[in-house]
Formats: sequence, structure tokens, C-alpha cells
Amino acid sequence: MGMSALYGEADRAESIATIHAALDAGVTLIDTGDFYGMGHNELLINEALRTAPAGAREKALTSVKFGALRTVEGGFTGVDGSPNAVKNFAAYSLQRLGTDHIDVYRLARLDPNVPIEETVGAIAELVEAGHVRHIGLSEVNAETIRRAAAVAPIADLQIEYSLISRGIEKEILPTVRELGIGVTAYGVLSRGLISGHFTRDRQLAANDFRGMSPRFQGENLRHNLDLVDALREIAEAKGATVAQTAIAWVLAQGEDIVPLVGARRRDRLTEALGALDVHLDAQDLAAIERAVPPGAAAGDRYPTDQMAHLDSER
Ligand SMILES: NC(=O)c1ccc[n+]([C@@H]2O[C@H](COP(=O)([O-])OP(=O)(O)OC[C@H]3O[C@@H](n4cnc5c(N)ncnc54)[C@H](OP(=O)(O)O)[C@@H]3O)[C@@H](O)[C@H]2O)c1
Repeated sequence: MGMSALYGEADRAESIATIHAALDAGVTLIDTGDFYGMGHNELLINEALRTAPAGAREKALTSVKFGALRTVEGGFTGVDGSPNAVKNFAAYSLQRLGTDHIDVYRLARLDPNVPIEETVGAIAELVEAGHVRHIGLSEVNAETIRRAAAVAPIADLQIEYSLISRGIEKEILPTVRELGIGVTAYGVLSRGLISGHFTRDRQLAANDFRGMSPRFQGENLRHNLDLVDALREIAEAKGATVAQTAIAWVLAQGEDIVPLVGARRRDRLTEALGALDVHLDAQDLAAIERAVPPGAAAGDRYPTDQMAHLDSER
């Protein structure tokens, strides 16, 4: 996502080099949305896969979100999860990605005007036709997950989950575990906030989402970076970085949870992959819980108008 939109300028050559380095290191899951830069991200992935060595390209799995409606100026005007729209979005995505199938396909935000059964039913038809391999969900609540799973097998739920965004633990995580659905956790570094690299005085570009995000504002930012300082002490004692510790914490929550890391440069990717060597035992996990208890973050994870689109928060 950050290679095409939302976090200010990105470097195209470095983005492609980062995807190649990820594939070379054994990363196999590439997540995108057709609305990330309005097609820009899918075309970027197309180029990266086309220019990657064949062995790596064949192992790469694509996970695509759809449904967002945009304006010429880049605004978001709603979501369309109706069956005709699902098939139309998929046709364009396949063309942009240059592939004959999408591995996991999911509606980015629940369409309040279309029952989830209809959206999932349309993706199931794409599975039947061979255009999609698996059905995913994004940012939906336990009831919606059950309704979707009653229509067709659901592979995974993509949802924000990190040390400072633990809303899924109460109801959503037990539900997906009961139903045998995996989780792709996004925002494991809370968009860089708990990466250890974000500073109080960082200047953000006008089009950077973080400039509008409640957690990055004034007193909230100060409070949240104090949490990062507490985490840094634990990380340093483990010989790890803050980002590695935050990713390792998500990895430690279960093998059914796959952290989606938003690295957009090779140096960040190398750091993130180092999390695989950070093993947190019960004592480490308890120390992390004390430093950053559930609910410790100040500010919502999205601006108020965007929180309203999250079925997962209802
Ligand atoms: N389903 C959904 O609703 C949804 C929503 C959002 C995202 N997603 C998916 O989840 C993916 C990850 O999301 P995200 O980028 O917001 O999450 P993230 O991994 O929490 O944040 C990534 C940002 O953290 C900073 N960072 C600092 N150190 C890093 C390191 N060692 N490794 C990686 N990043 C580091 C980078 O910002 P700087 O480069 O500015 O330092 C980077 O852009 C997205 O690409 C997208 O595919 C899904």
C-alpha cells in the first residue's frame, strides 16, 4: 500500500527492488488493493513479478482487496460489493496484475447496502470459474464472518492487529479460530508509529494518511511514543530492534496469524525479516504486556469518518 499511496512519496525502483528482495528471502504473500493508487499498486506488482526470477514468481501469492469507489481527485465515495461490481473489479485486477488468477480476493470494507452473502457468493462464482483461488474478508465483525462462512469456505480475515490495536482478541479472533479461518494482520507496526523510527518532530507530506490519523496527533503521539520507549528497553535487552519486537509479538500470538509488513524499502524489509530470529518466551511476553498493556494507545486507529466504515468495530 505504502508503495503507491497513503504514506507520502515512494520510490518506484526501490519498491520493485524491495519486492524482489522479499521474494528472494522467501516471502510468498503479496497483498494489495485495486484502489491503492487507483491501479498503481497492481501495475507495480505486475512489473515486479514479471521481472523477478521465474522460481520466485511462481511461488508468489497475490491477495487483492476491492470495492472502494474513488473520484478523479482521489477521494473515497463509498463501497460497492454487489455481484456485478465484484466481477467487474476482478476483471480489471486480473488485467492489471497480468495473471490468470488471484490467490485471495476480498471486499475491503463491508458494503452496508449489500448482504455479505451476495458478495461472497459472487467471489465463490469467480472461484468456480478459476479466476480466484480463495475467498478472504477484511475488517468485518464476528457475525459477518459467520454469515460469510455459511456461504462458502473463507481462507482468511485481514484485519488490523498489533500491540496497540488488540480489538480482535475478545470476539473476532475466537470466532475465526472456531471456524478454521486464518488471519492476515496488518498495521503490525501501527503504520510506523511503533517501529522505533517514528519521531515526535517528523514532518509528514500533505497526502500522508498519518497526518490525519488520531494516534499521530499532538498529545496522543507523545503518549504513544512513550509506549515505544518502554518497548525499546525490552527490545534492546533482547538484542532486537523495536520493529522486530513488535512483529515478533504478533508472530507469537499463533501460527494462524500472518503479519503483513508494509516495508517499502530494502533496509526496512531486512529489519522486518530479522523478527523471524526474535523468539519471545513467556517472560518476554509478560514484560511486553506490562510495557504496552491492551488499550494503552491514545487515539482511535482511524479518523472518525473512517471508523464508521469498519464493520469490525460494531
Ligand atoms: N485490510 C485493510 O483494511 C488494510 C488497511 C491497511 C493496510 N492493509 C495492508 O497491510 C499492509 C501493511 O500495512 P501498513 O503498511 O500500514 O503497516 P505497517 O507495517 O504497520 O507500517 C508500515 C510502515 O512502517 C514504517 N516502518 C518503519 N520501520 C519498518 C520496518 N522495519 N519494516 C516495515 N515498515 C517499517 C514504514 O514507514 P516509513 O517508510 O514512512 O518509515 C512503513 O511504511 C499494507 O501494505 C496493505 O496491503 C490492509
